[in-house]
Amino acid sequence: MKNTIFASLFLGFFAIVFNSCGDKPFDIEVKGYTDEDYAVISQHLDLPNEPVDYTIDFPSYYFRPNGTFNNNRATLGRVLFYDKNLSKDGTISCASCHIQSLGFSDDKAFSDGVENLQTQRNSIALSSVLNFQEYYGQGGIPFLWDNSAQTAEDQVLKALFESTEMGMNPHDLTRNVAEQPYYEPLFKYAFGENTQISNEYIAMALAEFVNSIGSVDSKFDDVLSKNADGVWNVSEALQDNWSQFSPEENRGKAIYLSNCASCHSEAFGRPIRLAENNGLDLEYTDKGLGELSSQSYDNGMFKVPTLRNIAATGPYMHDGRFETLEEVIEHYSSGIQNHPNLSSELRNVVNDGGFNFSAQEKSDLIAFLNTTTDETILTAEKYSDPF
Ligand code: HEC
Ligand code: HEC
Repeated sequence: MKNTIFASLFLGFFAIVFNSCGDKPFDIEVKGYTDEDYAVISQHLDLPNEPVDYTIDFPSYYFRPNGTFNNNRATLGRVLFYDKNLSKDGTISCASCHIQSLGFSDDKAFSDGVENLQTQRNSIALSSVLNFQEYYGQGGIPFLWDNSAQTAEDQVLKALFESTEMGMNPHDLTRNVAEQPYYEPLFKYAFGENTQISNEYIAMALAEFVNSIGSVDSKFDDVLSKNADGVWNVSEALQDNWSQFSPEENRGKAIYLSNCASCHSEAFGRPIRLAENNGLDLEYTDKGLGELSSQSYDNGMFKVPTLRNIAATGPYMHDGRFETLEEVIEHYSSGIQNHPNLSSELRNVVNDGGFNFSAQEKSDLIAFLNTTTDETILTAEKYSDPF
């Protein structure tokens, strides 16, 4: 054991030396901080004296090759995520609109940004991001309600420069970050000796942190892991009645699998479709994908959000129109509008007279959705405010 620790310290040291000679700033992974660096860091931040481990321990049923992150970079990302110095008037951080205990969403329909401005859409929960970019590959599942950001880095820069969110300009962003004494050491451990603080590195570190927020520790995950043996029989295992679930949760699971999973995915992993129309309105004031493309076939089309931690992330939908899960279920049960772009399976349902769930079915569905609540992610220190 001692030898391993020694070896990894030694390798860490070697990596810095190697790195300072040049080429490969991205392979370093240093363990602890020097006393001198930690003195600067701990003067401003409540961080342990070595970076915590951001590895996501994916359940065996989950098809994802790699849950490891650069811990120094994710730690830097965590600090940036909570730092109001990254906003135009010093009042807003990412965490103002992405609150950990709410699954990294906001409890308001529209969030407050800098200078008392408001966002035009509802904040999206991040507690399920599951490293979209790496998991789904380039050109995989894009970010944002209108699918307009291809990578976490793109998305992060949009939030920083958007006038209603953090309102920064590129020059002030680099300057504000460089002015804070704790960033010099944090960037050094994240990107290598003599790193020049740049917006590209800021976006990379924030993306590393955001990507590390993988929710895998809910009751749903625990019980599915016990019932599925590996990746290949998940669909089969989901059909079973689980002894670890209550009768309500089992019945809700069956309703979910036949009516909701075709879009939201059977095990709350990758959404099945990039964007869909779920019949909220006949006329949309916010046209979603249609705002960007001006094509009528894109009107009312929005990202299919993941439903992990859904009990914590209300209000719901792109405009936060529903306060509670009950209202959401009522929409699917009796309120689906026959919009020209309504998805074909929901159109079939509407043509057949709607889902018309009974009171029992509605509460079963909610009991099942509540099993995706992951207390670990809602409270873990490694995702919390370090200031
Ligand atoms: C003023 C509130 C606000 C702030 C500040 C903010 N966000 Fe957001 N965030 C939102 C809203 C609103 C959306 C959805 C916007 C849309 O789709 O048009 C969103 C969407 C996202 C998404 C997309 C998730 C997905 O599944 O598509 C990510 C990732 C994200 N924000 C990360 C961040 C990061 C990192 C920061 C800090 C650099 C940040 N946000 C700052 C409100 C905010
Ligand atoms: C045809 C695809 C589709 C089906 C089927 C579907 N949904 Fe959705 N769901 C969506 C889309 C798209 C949105 C976002 C719509 C928007 O905001 O404009 C959404 C949003 C939601 C939300 C809000 C999430 C959030 O973070 O705001 C919940 C909850 C939800 N759906 C639950 C369900 C349930 C329960 C069912 C089954 C009864 C279901 N959905 C069936 C596509 C679908």
